[in-house]
Amino acid sequence: MAGNRTFTMIKPDAVGAGNTGAIIKMIEEAGFKIIAMKKTYMSKERAGQFYEVHKERPFYNDLTTYMSSSAIVPMILEKDNAVEDFRKLIGATNPKEAAEGTIRALFAESIEANAIHGSDSDENAQIEGSFFFSRVEQF
Ligand code: TYD
Repeated sequence: MAGNRTFTMIKPDAVGAGNTGAIIKMIEEAGFKIIAMKKTYMSKERAGQFYEVHKERPFYNDLTTYMSSSAIVPMILEKDNAVEDFRKLIGATNPKEAAEGTIRALFAESIEANAIHGSDSDENAQIEGSFFFSRVEQF
């Protein structure tokens, strides 16, 4: 059975452009409940840990520089079928391929600065949520 939680973070391009509120509004209107949220920063080293799975990819260095360039807003969200439904709400990785009306279609600048993250599995949602939030913050 699909889990009911996912992890997201609003990325530096969207936070910097003042789109945090508009994105949170879309998330809530789509039926997700915010369990945990904060505005914070990642060092390049922490960004490297978060995207460890991509460390052999050619975009890894630029990606971790970008993700540590300014503020981010990580969140844990709750809804039935959360991971899959949230991936639909954010759209494809490349905003040029993202479906109309999705968060990335509306707010992303490029494939790298693509406005928002969404976990790709229940297991990763748990791991990524715990990367930013303590156990009590996840109640
Ligand atoms: P990925 O996990 O493939 O995408 P998603 O975020 O949709 O799950 O990639 C992680 C991030 O890496 C992606 O959001 C943006 C960045 N990225 C690039 O900068 N260039 C690329 O060619 C790809 C595939 C990803």
